[in-house]
Amino acid sequence: MHIIHITAEMAPIAKVGGLGDVVTGLAKAALARGHFVTVMLPFYECLPKDQIEGLKHECDIEVPKGYRWDGEIRVGPLKTSVFWGRVQGCPVYLIKPADDTNCNIFRGGRIYGGSYNEMEAYLYFCRACLEYLNVSQQNPHVLQLHDWHAAAASMLYWDVYNPNGFSRTRLMLTIHNLDNTGETRQDEFFFTGVPGENFATIDKALDERTIGHNPERLNLMKGGIVYCNAVTTVSPTYANEVLNGGAAGWLRSTFARPELRSKFHGILNGIDCEEWNPATDALLPANFDADRPAGKALCKEFLQKGLGLEVDPRKPLVAVVSRLVPQKGIHLIKAALFRTVEKGGQFVLLGSGHSDPAFRQLADGQFKDHPNCRLKIMYSERLAHMIYAAADVVVVPSMFEPCGLTQMIALRYGAVPLVRRTGGLADTVFDVDGPAGGPAQPRNGFVFDGSDDGALHGALDRALTLYTTQPERWAALQQDNMRLDVSWGKSAKSYVDVYRSISA
Ligand code: ADP
Ligand code: GLC
Repeated sequence: MHIIHITAEMAPIAKVGGLGDVVTGLAKAALARGHFVTVMLPFYECLPKDQIEGLKHECDIEVPKGYRWDGEIRVGPLKTSVFWGRVQGCPVYLIKPADDTNCNIFRGGRIYGGSYNEMEAYLYFCRACLEYLNVSQQNPHVLQLHDWHAAAASMLYWDVYNPNGFSRTRLMLTIHNLDNTGETRQDEFFFTGVPGENFATIDKALDERTIGHNPERLNLMKGGIVYCNAVTTVSPTYANEVLNGGAAGWLRSTFARPELRSKFHGILNGIDCEEWNPATDALLPANFDADRPAGKALCKEFLQKGLGLEVDPRKPLVAVVSRLVPQKGIHLIKAALFRTVEKGGQFVLLGSGHSDPAFRQLADGQFKDHPNCRLKIMYSERLAHMIYAAADVVVVPSMFEPCGLTQMIALRYGAVPLVRRTGGLADTVFDVDGPAGGPAQPRNGFVFDGSDDGALHGALDRALTLYTTQPERWAALQQDNMRLDVSWGKSAKSYVDVYRSISA
């Protein structure tokens, strides 16, 4: 099948969190199964061009775009450049305004939070992707749209490019996180060159998309949910939380509609097992796997030395690698830090995001030069790999988690995951002290419920006790975990099943 992904992130060149990992991992897995897969990504100014194989200018096109001019919005063409290259073997189109001296869209030193208007940029990006596919006469079987950044493409597709449904392309929206659903004013939709009013009248039910009963607002994720032929999210438990729990938030009336519920699927993410392979990982000082686990101890010693921690193989090394946003359970991350140090373990945090001032203060104050604690407030792919390889326990205490990749990476690197039971964490980590589960529920980590410090302490204490009192059982647990299948294999097949089910 011919599949095209439209996305704001793609690892490793444009990664902020798991979205980037998932796009690359799923695309590679589908390519390996013989499908023809391409990714469309904004050509952010900050992309590392040396990591894009065979990068070349493909063509320039004119993309209709709305501008604000003298207080009014007018439509005019924006000359747009399409580039082509490969990222880890996967073909990718990169899109940006041709003359970016006059237009700051996608400019700046980082992927999100640049100096441009994000809503305008992604609405333009959606239109530009469809315009290019139209001009180049590409009719993939499926356009897979990721999160709100790409969702508007579904509205534009049926409104402008395939109003009669003659073209074969069908659409899938993949929801990675309902925390940000892309709220915009109806008049801002005009950045796509198409008035937002079109969507208020086409589907009466779309009126529910308004938030706070304000008819002037559009919710792009909701547009994607209504206008796509299939909607997926990234784990079965999160899908259930969206349909039957509170995870749908403002979109709960949308997910109450039977015709939308029936096209919604929860497919568990995998991880890219080539990228995340401790047996071959070039970023590690020593490699290891379930059959030759010795290298893990060397990685731990290397990290302890490198970070200036006390070098001691017997101290349990507890780690967190995370965006520091409320979703991730900031207060529980802190609780894990204090409890670990109090119990004589070592704690390492690698965190990025807007809740970092609190951790920065701890890093520069109480825990500065602490022999058993390092708080690294930064984004570093290299350090992330090192930490997974060195850690004994990886803590993921999220308040909600659509899927979560860190716990799966931890399993693969022989670090035992300790998680709060929510979303995809509940689908991938099963408590060692829980009732015996079948092969689908391997007893592989520590799980807690609740959101108070005490709940986390209970699970962490159990982990630290097992580590210190039963080293042989711990080693067996690590080795069993490294053998678990956390790859894209099964889930890529589930995606292909959904692609087939909607194909014209
Ligand atoms: P989310 O997408 O919500 O951030 P996931 O668990 O799905 O959560 O994916 C997080 C990804 O981002 C993982 O690959 C993790 O290793 C990586 N990551 C998170 N924070 C950092 C950081 N500060 N430095 C490097 N990698 C990070
Ligand atoms: C989101 C979610 C995370 C998920 C990732 C990839 O960022 O927060 O749980 O693993 O997307 O799907």
